[in-house]
Amino acid sequence: MNAFASGEGRAPFALLGCLLSLAIVAPAQAFGDVKGLSKMGYGKTKDGEAVELYTLQNGKTTVKIATYGATVVSIEVPDKNGHVADVTLGFDSLDGYLGEHPYFGATVGRVANRIAKGKFSLDGKDYTLAVNNPPNTLHGGKKGFNRVVWKAEPVESPDGPAVKMTYTSRDGEEGYPGTLTASVTFTVTANDELKIAYAATTDKATPLNLSNHTYFNLSGKGDATILDHELTLAASNYTPVDDTLIPTGEIVTVSGTPLDFTKPTAIGDRIAKLTGEPGGYDHNLVLDARAGAKATVYDPKSGRVLEMSTTEPGVQFYSGNFLDGTVVGRGGQVYRKHFGLCLEAQHFPDSIHHANFPDSVLRPGRTYTQTTTYKFSTR
Ligand code: BGC
Repeated sequence: MNAFASGEGRAPFALLGCLLSLAIVAPAQAFGDVKGLSKMGYGKTKDGEAVELYTLQNGKTTVKIATYGATVVSIEVPDKNGHVADVTLGFDSLDGYLGEHPYFGATVGRVANRIAKGKFSLDGKDYTLAVNNPPNTLHGGKKGFNRVVWKAEPVESPDGPAVKMTYTSRDGEEGYPGTLTASVTFTVTANDELKIAYAATTDKATPLNLSNHTYFNLSGKGDATILDHELTLAASNYTPVDDTLIPTGEIVTVSGTPLDFTKPTAIGDRIAKLTGEPGGYDHNLVLDARAGAKATVYDPKSGRVLEMSTTEPGVQFYSGNFLDGTVVGRGGQVYRKHFGLCLEAQHFPDSIHHANFPDSVLRPGRTYTQTTTYKFSTR
């Protein structure tokens, strides 16, 4: 549902949108001072908490973000012929996000990716987490940051319409130490970028790894695999894993492996060479320390290009291997294996158990920051 209300020339559309949405959700509300930003009611959680949906519009790009899970619900961008479509996987309404799904669009935390056996020690103390991805903990545990309602406030930014979402995770929540206050600011710039800026502070040392779990399918339909998308990664190394997807601790060259995307390569070209079940890419790539995009995805059919840049040391490249047709998404679309890809900028998986990986512990008095940008264009 469209909810444009701010920005010149949009009033008739806003009126139409409001009339259409009256019966289902509260009408959109514009923020007078923040051009390109509007919000509307998006329903309630099962506990009765109200959820809002923000719309950020700038350049040729429109992004919708829900306060439930600080979730990117949609990203609408044109193809090479100017046809605008959503390049993410997701649902038509909040109900879909409240149900079982593999983190579509969500902000993941307190610790994105896996922690081996759901246990860690920090400063001499042992901690136990929920084993929600046996035998490991995945994406923050049973009720991660993707399953809570974030508080939202509009932000005035010279870069474009922005919304800041904040969540305070209590000491001991999901087994993690310390009260952690996290914020995620989403901005859509005039250069068709979705900029995601994270910040967090804590009152006790805690492992922390925030990421965004948007599934992209640049076709704009989400009705076929992403195997024909070409991927380039500024990553000369990766972290090999055991058969439960926990890193062995080694940092190894991608050269001569199907993980070598240092030159543009179709995702499907070498995917069959990967062993293990269910097959496909689900690997942390170690990003090279050089300027520019760290990942580029190009869909030859639509001409859409996605470039990701990040301040993080790694990216989990996940080719939607566990999508098995059980999730029915937007417009009734059944999401099958490889129908979407994720580029999860992050610290390396299970860093808490590997002293040779970049440190992922946040300590009191320090502020965690991360900026990851997804830029859209056509070729
Ligand atoms: C993980 C996958 C997992 C997916 C959805 C990715 O970040 O690496 O193994 O299946 O998230 O949960």
